[in-house]
Amino acid sequence: MKISVCGKGGSGKSTLVTLLAKAAQERGFPVLIVDSDESNSGLYRMLGFKNPPVPLMELVGGKAALKNKMQAPGIFERPDITVEEIPSPYIQSENGLVLVSVGKVLQSFEGCACPMGVLSREFLKKVHLKENCIAFIDMEAGVEHFGRGIDEAVDKIILVVEPSFESVNVAEKIRDLAAGMKKKFAAVLNKIPSEKVAQRLKEELATKGIETIGTIPNDPFVFDACLEGRALNQGEAYHAAVKALVPCLKSPASDFGKVTL
Ligand SMILES: Nc1ncnc2c1ncn2[C@@H]1O[C@H](COP(=O)(O)OP(=O)(O)O)[C@@H](O)[C@H]1O
Ligand SMILES: [Mg+2]
Repeated sequence: MKISVCGKGGSGKSTLVTLLAKAAQERGFPVLIVDSDESNSGLYRMLGFKNPPVPLMELVGGKAALKNKMQAPGIFERPDITVEEIPSPYIQSENGLVLVSVGKVLQSFEGCACPMGVLSREFLKKVHLKENCIAFIDMEAGVEHFGRGIDEAVDKIILVVEPSFESVNVAEKIRDLAAGMKKKFAAVLNKIPSEKVAQRLKEELATKGIETIGTIPNDPFVFDACLEGRALNQGEAYHAAVKALVPCLKSPASDFGKVTL
């Protein structure tokens, strides 16, 4: 099953991907984490990896090679790719977690990030997961990934919503784009300071036809770990993510969020 995690920049996408991935792995599920955010590079640290994998973009010969063909060469020419076929160092495995990264913008004037979008889309379409394996995809901020069709192959979309007007606004846009793609989506609230705020935000989202499947508190452990570049593997937020994992584990065919508009 492929689950993408999206939302406003800074809302907590990478945090949630990390917490859900760890929670799933600790419950015995094989987990693949796909870093599809071309700007931020800290996901591997949140996951507790010593080093990031070399981006898949390098495996296909770099941006220029991909730009010319707009179609990835090599193993990407095939209809299916298994996780086991991705060679090291393009895939990293630590503490039972498996991580790939599509690519990062590294230099001024290197050109737009469209080739990374193409690669993300193709990879997600082609990667064949073993039964029970869950792929969590850390999306770039905002909505451009929908325009690029990156979400085409995902089974479920999680919208991370922090308590801000802007974040709810982005969630509304994502709702429309996800529904347009006929994808199942639901919200997970993050950085929630109190039950009262959680309730208010849930109700607000419900009026917009967005169901909430989890609430992650504002957790000083997450804040400190992010400040110091440490792994996120304990604290209140982690325990709340364990609860949010339950609806994620249901089969893609079962209920997961609904549009009630
Ligand atoms: N549940 C939380 N509790 C406290 N701080 C959080 C929480 N989730 C995220 N943060 C803070 O928000 C910042 C951005 O989170 P991050 O997951 O990197 O967002 P995104 O991937 O959406 O850009 C983190 O560096 C951390 O300081
Ligand atoms: Mg991030």
